[in-house]
Amino acid sequence: MNFGHFDDENMEYVVTTPKTPLPWINYLGSNDFFSLISNTSGGYSFYKDAKLLRLTRYRYNDVPLDSNGKYFYIKDGAAIWNPGWQPTKTELDEYECRHGMGYTKFHGKKGDISANVLCFVPMDDTCEVQKIVVTNDGSSEKKIQLFSYVEFCLWNAMDDMTNYQRNLSTGEVEVIGSTIYHKTEYRERRNHYAVYSVNTKADGFDTSREDFIGVYNSGANPDAVIEGKCRNSIASGWYPIASHQIDITLAPGESKSYVFVLGYCENPKDQKWEAQDVINKAPAEKMLAKYQTDEDVDKSFDNLRTYWKKLLSKFTVNTKNDKVNRMVNIWNQYQCMVTFNMSRSASYYESGIGRGMGFRDSCQDLLGFVHLIPDRARQRIIDIASTQFQDGSAYHQYQPLTKKGNSDIGSGFNDDPLWLIAGTSAYIRETGDTTILDEIVPYDNDMSVATSLFEHLTRSLDYIINHKGPHDLPLIGRADWNDCLNLNCFSEHPGESFQTFGPSEGPVAESVFIGGMFVKYGNEYADLCDFIGKKDEADRARSEVEKMVKALLGAGWDGKWFIRAYDANGNKVGSNECDEGKIYIEPQGFCVLAGVGVETGEAQKAMDSVKEMLDTKYGIMILQPAYTRYHVELGEISSYPPGYKENAGIFCHNNPWVSIAETVIGDGDRAFEIYQKTCPAYLQDISEIHRTEPYVYSQMVAGRDARFHGQGKNSWLTGTAAWTFTDISQYILGVYPTLKGLQINPCIPHGFGDFTVTREYRNAVYHITVKNPSDVCKGVLKMTVDGNDISGNVIPYDPSKKDVNIEIVMG
Ligand code: GLC
Ligand code: GLC
Repeated sequence: MNFGHFDDENMEYVVTTPKTPLPWINYLGSNDFFSLISNTSGGYSFYKDAKLLRLTRYRYNDVPLDSNGKYFYIKDGAAIWNPGWQPTKTELDEYECRHGMGYTKFHGKKGDISANVLCFVPMDDTCEVQKIVVTNDGSSEKKIQLFSYVEFCLWNAMDDMTNYQRNLSTGEVEVIGSTIYHKTEYRERRNHYAVYSVNTKADGFDTSREDFIGVYNSGANPDAVIEGKCRNSIASGWYPIASHQIDITLAPGESKSYVFVLGYCENPKDQKWEAQDVINKAPAEKMLAKYQTDEDVDKSFDNLRTYWKKLLSKFTVNTKNDKVNRMVNIWNQYQCMVTFNMSRSASYYESGIGRGMGFRDSCQDLLGFVHLIPDRARQRIIDIASTQFQDGSAYHQYQPLTKKGNSDIGSGFNDDPLWLIAGTSAYIRETGDTTILDEIVPYDNDMSVATSLFEHLTRSLDYIINHKGPHDLPLIGRADWNDCLNLNCFSEHPGESFQTFGPSEGPVAESVFIGGMFVKYGNEYADLCDFIGKKDEADRARSEVEKMVKALLGAGWDGKWFIRAYDANGNKVGSNECDEGKIYIEPQGFCVLAGVGVETGEAQKAMDSVKEMLDTKYGIMILQPAYTRYHVELGEISSYPPGYKENAGIFCHNNPWVSIAETVIGDGDRAFEIYQKTCPAYLQDISEIHRTEPYVYSQMVAGRDARFHGQGKNSWLTGTAAWTFTDISQYILGVYPTLKGLQINPCIPHGFGDFTVTREYRNAVYHITVKNPSDVCKGVLKMTVDGNDISGNVIPYDPSKKDVNIEIVMG
């Protein structure tokens, strides 16, 4: 069942009913100011950090779902409605929500009045702009009222929802004309405030929630709107809000438009005040002056649209498959940018107050956006590497505001170091910029022990080499990529952290998955060494990789698939010997994509086992059979009911690993089948089952053992975005950046047809045409570059060219 449709021309998803199975959200903002916005106007805004500098209040876990947002009420006689339907939920005659690239639009109509709302965050400002146009579609004059509504959060979102004994006494505002200033805590240590304003004279305002809504009412039936009269209340403590009342007369056919701005403003410490208790409004006035007219807004909105058009033109594909085109050209890359901005902080499943930036998550996210914003990727790599420890291990998370490692969770996730190699290698393959390796980067933010970034990578590699267990496989530590496989934890009491309880690094438990990663990224490290002339180091790395391959095909191999791990007692995890959890997806995907067992046949066997034991119509499950009881020796993984999350859910993140692995063994049909199964555009028609947004990936889809098989959860902030983009762009379409130039080596399903790719790469535009006259899955028969045949399938990098035309004939 559909709740909307794609509008590819405008790069939008059009939601056609407010009653989607779950809130379907979008993100506004590209730099410092961000808003989450749902298809019924739910959501909130923050500046830089969703925990510490939250402007507006959201109520996670509330009833009805998705309460609190930034609302407009229209009062037309007795009818009170919202263009985005919530919170009054008045039935609308027309409703549409268009989620676009960094903006969202609403269209609502009730009786003779229609309203169009555009919300976006300008490229270079710390505010959200909302333009609302109300129109009288009838044949007689109309007198209506428009009310705006935002509820302020008292900045620290965690404190805001817990510390009522203090917070209900601290709220403060100022009102000057149509501008409402929220200045809670400004009198003491803060030098920032929020502002909400409209570009017309308001006929009334409220800043106290109780006065506007009434003590026992809700957003669905605010007193002030029902009576058609704001109280001009000045909040003092309790619950500060901002609402404007605008009385409007509309001739038949007439439209009027209003521009609202919700902004974040800062003052230098010594210029905080205009007078006693009067805040310095200069920065707000400067900001608001920029959005006074429709033309101002249109210009700023055009800038945003141009930015996204330009950004997304860096990689475009044209196949005969609409769904592939729209995912690759629009939504998958857009989601990659959102994960760049948000990491795992703020979504409708991540409350914005929890973890900071994940070391491994951020390195993997980079794979999806490095071609779009290489300069910011460069800075990100340095930030991440600065939280590494001297022995090569790493803080598992760091805080975006301070960029410091998070000592609550600490280190000991033994896959982390290798992801730094993955990210750095992707950056250099993309840009050719090896100077990043010479950057002097601290350890644990301590400049006195800083070394080159290259040395950081060496220590990453050595960390794995120096931390091996009884089978010569890498020690797992607290966990590897699978945060829930906690082999050294043994937690018996509720509330203990599965990750940080127990010894951080047992001397026995080993991870086959990290072994696969070591092969993949050990080889990429060796290639880098060759590229910068460190031949001995390349040889050393390759000989370590060879040892690892032996271990993987020895103690890591179970006969028909790769084992997942050895636990702290030396027992196998993910082996045919186990009663539950016999096979896991991660080592099959990663070992095979790293090339392990490709020549000797294990790779094919592992892929066959995945297909036989883990596949479902909605994607590949993380393990089978699901754990039916709690295994203290395995940890959090067995804490989830069967079919959810890491316990046999379809963890979308690692489906592309298997798809990539299939391209490595040349099975384009299977690679693409796997790609399709979790691809949102393909799931649109079953939105009533899938439930999450049909334009972005979710972290997890419930597995076969779950009551609600096929149901998505945790949409948006997931490594799935980066990995599926890597899969489709670099392995299926086969446009893979190597250190020496772009390699073209598609692995497509039968019947996929010819296609073209336009890709910016190192300051040139590559126009690639792939022809497949014999309908093969893989193999490049012939390649011409600007009309000249070349041998092999890597286009030699020529910095003098701005446009390169490539034709590939598969066969
Ligand atoms: C979550 C975490 C990620 C981890 C995955 C599997 O998505 O953010 O770091 O790899 O779960 O446990
Ligand atoms: C829980 C989740 C897992 C996530 C981790 C992050 O373990 O199940 O997906 O990676 O929390 O801390």
